[in-house]
Amino acid sequence: MLLWQSILLFIFFELLLGPIWNNVIKWPPLPHQFISIYTTIFMAAMFVYVTSDEARMKSFLSPIVNTLAKPERAVARLIVFVAFPVVLGLWAYSKALPKYEAPAETRTVHPDPPLQFKFHDQSITIQTAENPYRKDEKENPAKFKEEVMEGAQVYYQNCFFCHGDNLDGQGPFHEAFNPEPANFTDTGTLAILQENYVFWRISTGGPGLPQNSKSWNSAMPVWQNILTQDQIWKAVLWIYKGSNSSPRTFAK
Ligand code: HEC
Repeated sequence: MLLWQSILLFIFFELLLGPIWNNVIKWPPLPHQFISIYTTIFMAAMFVYVTSDEARMKSFLSPIVNTLAKPERAVARLIVFVAFPVVLGLWAYSKALPKYEAPAETRTVHPDPPLQFKFHDQSITIQTAENPYRKDEKENPAKFKEEVMEGAQVYYQNCFFCHGDNLDGQGPFHEAFNPEPANFTDTGTLAILQENYVFWRISTGGPGLPQNSKSWNSAMPVWQNILTQDQIWKAVLWIYKGSNSSPRTFAK
């Protein structure tokens, strides 16, 4: 009897100081340390109380002794010595099993570009590559407008499927890809990049990404296989114009 009483009393105090206090009484918050000290004192008090009297000691131990020795307690024995360890073992086993989910990985969205890249047979140095049409913006605005519209045509023939009508990365196919197609209206993409960087990304696509960007899972196509350099530079004009951003430049 005494064993069950002390166990019940113990559970009651743990519930009171744990969930009941946290959810019902709430104030003041009990420090973890306080609860462990209290639990230790409680156990010590129980120990002194039980062991200070022979009859109490007997009553406390009798369920344990009975379970170990009495023939009619075979079921309880089976539970304590077989079922319990088996369940515990299975739980530990399930915790130790390796997981089959893909590991979480970080992706560098804007990796450092290489110094040069190949556009077919031509080696292009990214740092010094310039958009040949950008100068028209000031020198010949009418011509520039036309060039931007040609870029828009390139965009709506090739890019909107993924990057979207509104350049927001919500094209009809966007959900199929991970990473998702870039959202050009996001201030974290085009606006922080130079045009030559964007030109490199479009020309070489996902496969052109360096290793730390996990090029294997980017769906961005290699556009130099499909478009000319002029078409790509014009598309660059359009995605800046259409997303209301301007290329990052450095003070000269
Ligand atoms: C099949 C879908 C698909 C098509 C079509 C596509 N892209 Fe992409 N694009 C992506 C994905 C996915 C990413 C993001 C992963 C990455 O950076 O490679 C991306 C990234 C980019 C980036 C990099 C943006 C940044 O912030 O680094 C640019 C620039 C870009 N695309 C331009 C274009 C242009 C221009 C076209 C059309 C000529 C185009 N894309 C067509 C899927 C596509």
